[in-house]
Amino acid sequence: MKIAIINGPNLNLLGTREPGVYGHQTFEDYLKSLVAAYPSIDFDYFQSNIEGELIDQIQKVGFSSDGILLNAAAYTHTSVGIGDAVKAVDTPVIEIHISNTFSREDFRHKSYLTPVSKGIIVGFGLDSYRLGIEALLKP
Ligand code: DQA
Repeated sequence: MKIAIINGPNLNLLGTREPGVYGHQTFEDYLKSLVAAYPSIDFDYFQSNIEGELIDQIQKVGFSSDGILLNAAAYTHTSVGIGDAVKAVDTPVIEIHISNTFSREDFRHKSYLTPVSKGIIVGFGLDSYRLGIEALLKP
């Protein structure tokens, strides 16, 4: 099984970025624990701060993976282009958020991804990604 993880802007700073909201762990460290926990899954990890690069990556993996875990970060709330890319590909996309966006500022309540995603997992810290994998593993 191939699962692509795509992280958007500022998620490269996990570990040091607002640790009260996003925790103290880097994504690279967390990813090692996922790889160890799911040895039969082939993970493809990509992070970019650039909207067009995220769209390119969704197009690149969106016809050949079994699932995409997409945390588009701030672009979630602004990007028609990323929403259109999710809609355009065959692979099911799960929208992921580390923090509970609905308990934060109003502008974080709007998502261009939710209507086109298979489902959303929001607010469980980095464990949101593991829960996304479990959702993809269900037939
Ligand atoms: C985030 C929530 C977004 O509102 C924010 O802009 C992020 C991270 C999350 O994972 O909680 O950068 O997607």
